Amino acid sequence: MKKKFYITTPIYYPSANAHIGHAYCTTMCDIFARNKRIRGYETYFLTGTDEHGEKIQKNAEKVNKTPQEFVDEIANNFQNLWRTLKISNDDFIRTTEERHIKVVQQVFSHLYQNGDIYLGNYEGWYCTPCESFWTETQVGEEHLCPDCHRPVHKDKEEAYFFNTKKYLPDLLRFMDEHPKFITPITRKNEMMNTFIKPGLEDLCISRTSFDWGVPILENPKHVTYVWMDALTNYISALGYLNENDSLFKKFWLDEETEIIHVVGADISRFHIIYWPMFLKGLNLRFPDRIFVHGLLDLNGEKMSKSRGNVVSPLPLIERYGVDALRWFLAREFSFGSDGRFTPELFVERINLDLANNLGNLVNRTLTMINKYFDGIIPSHNQNMRDLDKNLGDLLVKTVDEYESLMDDLKITESLAKVMELLGAANKYIEESEPWTLAKASDISGLENVMASLANVIINATMMLECCLVETAPKIYQQFGLSKKQHSYEFVKEFNHLAGTKISKGNPLFPRLKKDEEIAYINSISQH
Ligand code: MSP
Repeated sequence: MKKKFYITTPIYYPSANAHIGHAYCTTMCDIFARNKRIRGYETYFLTGTDEHGEKIQKNAEKVNKTPQEFVDEIANNFQNLWRTLKISNDDFIRTTEERHIKVVQQVFSHLYQNGDIYLGNYEGWYCTPCESFWTETQVGEEHLCPDCHRPVHKDKEEAYFFNTKKYLPDLLRFMDEHPKFITPITRKNEMMNTFIKPGLEDLCISRTSFDWGVPILENPKHVTYVWMDALTNYISALGYLNENDSLFKKFWLDEETEIIHVVGADISRFHIIYWPMFLKGLNLRFPDRIFVHGLLDLNGEKMSKSRGNVVSPLPLIERYGVDALRWFLAREFSFGSDGRFTPELFVERINLDLANNLGNLVNRTLTMINKYFDGIIPSHNQNMRDLDKNLGDLLVKTVDEYESLMDDLKITESLAKVMELLGAANKYIEESEPWTLAKASDISGLENVMASLANVIINATMMLECCLVETAPKIYQQFGLSKKQHSYEFVKEFNHLAGTKISKGNPLFPRLKKDEEIAYINSISQH
């Protein structure tokens, strides 16, 4: 495994406020970044907003604002939302910032001088909401955008093109030699069959029909077409071409850094095909991984800002807390597959995992430590039974599985392993019957059970902390731990807590009343 990590979300269009589909990708990247930092790896986590383009210009006009005023407000809302969701990004790049614009212009010039870009005429089917040109075959007989399924129109204009033939062999070779470059693997096959095998078209990278974009220095009536502008954020944010580019050296040039772009299925084409080609043209290395996640729908319908069919994260967070939303997003469906948000699934998931499995275990354990040991966590002794030892063994096995799944971006599966461990700990209470041990005054037996439970809970919490950012500190506090005692270096230790004084607090996740909460969530979803 590499030693450093650079992880990015796509930069979001600030054409309307964020919905939970946007919160999804950012939360998953945050979990990964936090996990790496907790485990001691240097990590840089980037997100931001993609502020140029015709659609933004039009949306701003509709509300009588300049495009800049319009994007300032929404970019600010995105940043506030990330703060509320406890997103630990190291930087937030906006494509209207000078530091970015300069790099886009230089990237264009460089590729132009290389002979990778030429001036031509574009004629094709254009989808305004997606800002994408499509070919005859892609739009089909009904002339609908293959991405958003809205009608497209014929359009023609002078434009610059990026020659995709030149670097295709490099890209294909890289794909073959790096099986983890595109995950899940189905996404690679999809790319090959839909775009590469039928013959890749050159990419239009400039427009003249609107001016809300980065002007091309060589021919300023052109602005760069949004994708070239947008993709460049991943290097402009690190200070590429800037004298003060230590971040770029550290997180891009250094081969010891694993570069991971996480993107939704609808935009994977740009990241998998064109972005590596731009990088090749700039003589820069390819990212290590493009992880493609699925899309989240709402009650079975596509979530879309323009259709007004969205759930906003803020009211959910206000009522259920940051961790409930983060948990649902991470755990409900496998990262990489499509998923569904319904009020029922949300309430059930919180009750099942957080109220019952985690919450009850913490609550029961603290109650018993108070009752049997006056609130002091005991130590294991020599008389450990197989039952106790097995739980310790399961902990070690879980940590190994959790780490390797997380490293492979199987975030859902990795958190699920921790839930299995907590499930086993709940079962262990039933099987070890502390109440019977107490009746028989078997103090050494009770010590082992309470020590086992406390250690498993705390070590599981260390693994969950990257997702449950507000709950983990509460658990540490209720178990009376100092920072050192919940340091990840002890994650496999089964006896590192003895002697601390617990202070039981309120239940972590009170069980939600299903019908009431479903009605509430329905009331906050826009239709
Ligand atoms: N601006 C471009 C990305 C440029 S990256 C160099 C863009 N912006 S977007 O705001 O439309 O989408 C940003 C990301 O949000 C995409 O990865 C997209 O897949 C994701 N999502 C938008 N709606 C989503 C869901 N309903 N579910 C999951 N992710 C969703 O595309």
